[in-house]
Amino acid sequence: MELESYTFTYLDEFGDTNSATCRPNEYHSLMELLFDKYLQEWGDCKGRAWCGTCHIQILEGSLSSKMQKEEKQTLSHLDEACPQSRLACQIPINAELHNLVFKIITDNDFG
Ligand code: FES
Repeated sequence: MELESYTFTYLDEFGDTNSATCRPNEYHSLMELLFDKYLQEWGDCKGRAWCGTCHIQILEGSLSSKMQKEEKQTLSHLDEACPQSRLACQIPINAELHNLVFKIITDNDFG
């Protein structure tokens, strides 16, 4: 049975824990959802995997979607990139987001 909404947790740039909810197919990507509802300061390239402003690190849970070349390339230029890094604009809204925990990585990362 498909869930009617997905709830996930993210740590923001101040280290605060936030809970967010979305419906299946409500947005094209995790970046669009967070930009629209919670964060205004990212998504500079509008989801093309070029700018790296939507950098997140997965803390709990996992995503099965494979990284495309552009995402790997952009992450390789980010100082704080690690094996758990992803670009939120390349992550679709689906059931894998449910119970996922991730951290927003910014230039002002206090975490
Ligand atoms: S919005 Fe630019 S890399 Fe994701």
